[in-house]
Amino acid sequence: MNYKLSWIFPKIRQEDYRSMARERILFECIECGMVTLRWLGRCPQCDSWDSFVEKQEEGVKSDRGKVQKEVRPIPITDFGDLQMPLSSKKLSSGIKEFDRVIGGGIVQGSAVLIAGEPGIGKSTLALQIAGFWSRKNGKVLYVHGEESLHQIQDRARRLDSCHNNLLMLGTNTLQDVVSTIDSDNFSLVVVDSIQSLSNLELSSVPGSVSQVRECTFELVRKTKEKDIPMIIVGHITKDGYIAGPKVLEHIVDTVLYFDGDGKHSLRLLRANKNRFGSTQEIGVFEMGSDGLKEIVEPSALFLNGRVEGVSGSIVMPILGGTRPMLVEIQALVSKSHVVQPKRGVVGLNLQRVTLLVAVLEKRAGLSFGDRDIFVNVTGGINIDEPAVDLPLIMAILSSYWDIPISLRCSAFGEIGLGGEVRPVNGSKVRLGEIAKFGFQKCFISVGNVNPPLDNDCVGVKVVPLNNIRELIEFMSNMEG
Ligand code: TYD
Ligand code: MG
Repeated sequence: MNYKLSWIFPKIRQEDYRSMARERILFECIECGMVTLRWLGRCPQCDSWDSFVEKQEEGVKSDRGKVQKEVRPIPITDFGDLQMPLSSKKLSSGIKEFDRVIGGGIVQGSAVLIAGEPGIGKSTLALQIAGFWSRKNGKVLYVHGEESLHQIQDRARRLDSCHNNLLMLGTNTLQDVVSTIDSDNFSLVVVDSIQSLSNLELSSVPGSVSQVRECTFELVRKTKEKDIPMIIVGHITKDGYIAGPKVLEHIVDTVLYFDGDGKHSLRLLRANKNRFGSTQEIGVFEMGSDGLKEIVEPSALFLNGRVEGVSGSIVMPILGGTRPMLVEIQALVSKSHVVQPKRGVVGLNLQRVTLLVAVLEKRAGLSFGDRDIFVNVTGGINIDEPAVDLPLIMAILSSYWDIPISLRCSAFGEIGLGGEVRPVNGSKVRLGEIAKFGFQKCFISVGNVNPPLDNDCVGVKVVPLNNIRELIEFMSNMEG
């Protein structure tokens, strides 16, 4: 077994395995914290690859086990009309898109993790919120362990976040942060970043799983005790050498992922876990020279740059929580020059695309065996809702036959394995959005036409479809 592992994963040599086994060295997954006796290439718990690192000795002298006061369970009916401070107060962050994603505002005493790749704009977002908060709600403690005061001040000036209530603490030690929180009445604590903090009672290096987990645990405990909200910034890296925020997901109340194409200025904020709101909402921002700007009308942005008369493109309304957004689905079907034709997908699930191509072959009698198929969703959006099936098939057919779809035509609907077009949720909201942007025609499932559509959809001619055969009939009669 050792031989095989060291052969497959040449990072650790066979003799190292033996000495590790002798010395009882443990390994820990930096993503989910799972501990094993030997190094594994793939974590059986969270499925991440190459995430096991040697577990550091932890010389923890904790008094957490000591019982400090008598505790006893209370019947739930005995609480009376107790006002829970946690759910009672939501305060605005000053950024509407952020408030919408988080569920209306930051809840008093809650811990919010903003996770994302380095350079995506987490510190910028946190500093913008801290600046607004210090003006509106009083003292804010901003712990910066990564950047110098000079860098932060320069950024704060550009973001217009400078205020004498914004107190900066440059430290890498958890104990400093905890004692500072105790020393004053803060209305918000921002920790940028959790990977730069370390608990002096642990011997492991900053950024290791145990440090990240212990520091977060202590900080959350402290802020809950004082009933102040906290924003924690956490890096995730593709190579996975720094402990990922997965370790923290169960400790904090809300996990927000901040992503986007680093090369473009578009940034998306979405909630992965939210104790105080939905996880469906998407916040859209643009990174500019003076920080992050909210994009209240993302559809207009995503529709920019469309060209008339080009095949393989259609716009669909997706539902990002309560707000619909128009995004463009593009497909390119070209003659393949290799034995196994290529399938390339950006912004969609490859398996879903392969499945829909198989449905087209079986139910419409088309052949894609000698065609490469590439599919793209513009604007860096990832779509995981089934409503994308119908527009995707239309984009593929449009490119296959080289028939452009009119710029004023849209579609949404799920496709079943039998080729039937199925209804999806939110049809009125979706149709309302495409009507707002001047679309004139929309292909939908027959099931979405009933109940009758209301005035919001005025101007849009709805084309109800039962199956993809009907779609093909329509498309073959289409003149762009
Ligand atoms: P930053 O917030 O430091 O990222 P993170 O904390 O996630 O590592 O943002 C870094 C990038 O943002 C950097 O490439 C510069 C860019 N940026 C702007 O374009 N405009 C701005 O006003 C600011 C503050 C940053
Ligand atoms: Mg940063």
